[in-house]
Amino acid sequence: MLSQHRLQAANTTGAGTPALRPPLTTERLVLRGWRVDDAPAALTIFGHAAVARWLSPDMDQVPDLAAMRLLLQQWIAETARMPLPAGRWAMQRREDGRIIGGAILLPLPPGNEDFEIGWQLHPEAWGQGYATEATHALAGWTFRHDVDELFAVVRPGNTRAAATVRRNGMHWVGETNKYFGLTLQVFRLRPADLDQAAPNGLLPPAFGAN
Ligand SMILES: CC(C)(COP(=O)(O)OP(=O)(O)OC[C@H]1O[C@@H](n2cnc3c(N)ncnc32)[C@H](O)[C@@H]1OP(=O)(O)O)[C@@H](O)C(=O)NCCC(=O)NCCS
Repeated sequence: MLSQHRLQAANTTGAGTPALRPPLTTERLVLRGWRVDDAPAALTIFGHAAVARWLSPDMDQVPDLAAMRLLLQQWIAETARMPLPAGRWAMQRREDGRIIGGAILLPLPPGNEDFEIGWQLHPEAWGQGYATEATHALAGWTFRHDVDELFAVVRPGNTRAAATVRRNGMHWVGETNKYFGLTLQVFRLRPADLDQAAPNGLLPPAFGAN
């Protein structure tokens, strides 16, 4: 796993210049950095109760366009400061250019040594495999940066996210309270798990029952 020291070293391309995150292109998506003028589309996602309720860290529904703009400004600035490969991406559908969601690769507190992968899709875009497609691109990007495992942290009852992590070969490693003050199920992805032939990961007992 990448140490904090190496993370900091990897954060710049030299002379203190923030390292760039190139857009990641998949069959149907472009994952690219957020722009402030994405605010109207982003609000339909982060202002949606069915999305906000499952996010960790905890996030209130974004109430209006002004708040969404501010948040995007914050995310853009944070991403520029963050060590590679961490960041926040907008998920843009290539077919029609619509922003259908977001994806994150963020260092997990308290140690900031592990990376969390996460997705936030507009409910109209659920059930079409976009989170799975994004996972392959983001995990591929991560594993090219000298990081050899990624984690997803899923709230109990989030059966869609649990299906996504399982579909992507992630393995359940346990339940924890150590992140964000929430009880979360933790799943791990390693490079070999991306192999389509790898068996599906395990789910915790009775997941989704509460
Ligand atoms: C969690 C979340 C990203 C999952 O979205 P999703 O669309 O179900 O995820 P996937 O990309 O794995 O799509 C799988 C579904 O697409 C279908 N699908 C269609 N084409 C597919 C393809 N090419 N590849 C894979 N699946 C495909 C699958 O059959 C499956 O359908 P089902 O839901 O009817 O079983 C989404 O529900 C969400 O944004 N929720 C709110 C926020 C959230 O919970 N985030 C996660 C926090 S950990």
